Amino acid sequence: MRKKIVAGNWKMNTTVPEGIELAKAVVERSASVPSDVKLIIAVPFTHLYPVAEVVKGSAVSLSAENCADREKGAYTGEVSAAMLASVNCEYTILGHSERRQYYGETDEKLVEKVKLALACGLKVILCVGENLAEREAGRHFEVCTAQIQNVLYQFTAEDMKNIVVAYEPVWAIGTGKTASSAQAEEIHACIRKVLADKFGAQVAEETSILYGGSCKPSNAKELFSQPDIDGGLIGGAALKADDFIAIAQSY
Ligand code: PGA
Repeated sequence: MRKKIVAGNWKMNTTVPEGIELAKAVVERSASVPSDVKLIIAVPFTHLYPVAEVVKGSAVSLSAENCADREKGAYTGEVSAAMLASVNCEYTILGHSERRQYYGETDEKLVEKVKLALACGLKVILCVGENLAEREAGRHFEVCTAQIQNVLYQFTAEDMKNIVVAYEPVWAIGTGKTASSAQAEEIHACIRKVLADKFGAQVAEETSILYGGSCKPSNAKELFSQPDIDGGLIGGAALKADDFIAIAQSY
């Protein structure tokens, strides 16, 4: 059975002291979440080291929000996958639409990032999703399929054990507009089929596919009830421990 996952993506929010407080609040409330739901918090690079101490021994896993596409060396301002692993970070988000949109992240770069992350023992949450123009042009299946093929088809069935996919329609991120559960489900089912075409039905069945885009306590239950939605990648609502935990309790 694939894992149910609720992951918080803090983005560029909170100072380090605020982040430590938020992580403590999530850890304290985590006991009220069903034990088969995995909780992850993805925090800014500066927060990883102290937050790793906060989540140590708890049910909450730590994630970064990005990593470099180079192993090491003269790449000022970058943070490598090995650095993340060295602070007991377990996951990293890669390919978030904000990285694709504002920082020129391409599928080619993502292949390098995923390779390095896996080589350092990290698990990857790979984001895909169409923007509004692509959705309005009816290209959402095509866009998500291409993003999966361009990146994940470069990896093996064994690698897929350490990869989670997040479907995040760009038009729903931070906008308050959520994809309907039917809209989300049909893309999730499509992503699972695209994975099955390359890796076989069993790998596709075992890969968790999360929904992201204005997921909140009021709509999480309906989204998570869909057969191919295995949890959520939560932005805004992850900045309040009560909302984040309420989403995880929706299962
Ligand atoms: P949101 O962000 O929940 O604020 O829409 C989701 C994400 O970008 O991961």
